[in-house]
Amino acid sequence: MNEIKGKFITVEGGEGAGKSTNLDMIKQVLERAGHPVLYTREPGGTPLGEAVRDLLLVHKHDGMADETELLLMFGARAEHLNRKIVPALTAGTWVLCDRFTDATYAYQGGGRGIDPKRIQVLEQWVQQELRPDLTLILDLPIEVGLARAEKRSTPDRFESEAHHFFQKVREAYLDIAKNSPKRVKVIDASLPLAQVQSQIKTVIDDFLAVCI
Ligand code: TMP
Repeated sequence: MNEIKGKFITVEGGEGAGKSTNLDMIKQVLERAGHPVLYTREPGGTPLGEAVRDLLLVHKHDGMADETELLLMFGARAEHLNRKIVPALTAGTWVLCDRFTDATYAYQGGGRGIDPKRIQVLEQWVQQELRPDLTLILDLPIEVGLARAEKRSTPDRFESEAHHFFQKVREAYLDIAKNSPKRVKVIDASLPLAQVQSQIKTVIDDFLAVCI
């Protein structure tokens, strides 16, 4: 893999956690600190990835096999890494990504019950040594998140899952944070926006301080 010069930051969370608003704010904070930022998302981020995203989210494919879902996530990710993320990081651009492989551990691992060891094999194969430098998990109780998400639009294939699915997703995210405390920071996203953003600002400022 080429030499990586930029930093790779990912933002995760359950449904209705407020990722979009907070991603905009993080992008501004990083740019104000003088870093060029590529803002992207998963599944998606490339024309092929966005086409795969459509396949993954539409109800036409309700009942898709769990393995198919997992492989499509990594198919889109391979394209995203090769065409967008790695070239940007190599050029010294920072990459801010709305979800990445932690979402696979949470949704396909926790939610669907796929053995994390199988996810690990794909992670190593597709990403080699590349892992995010910093991950923020916007955490909030399932009921609060789903109530927020429901107000927005017709639920997609994931948003239509049952309550216990999201409970397992949340637990898997919190496990990831417990196991990687240096990289992964949990933000209490149930608080009012100003307080959520102040927690995020502290995490980003601490990260920037050690990057200098
Ligand atoms: P979004 O809600 O952030 O737009 O993401 C779309 C959905 O895709 C969301 O419900 C979570 C799901 N997802 C996975 O199940 N596995 C993954 O690896 C990623 C990146 C997303």
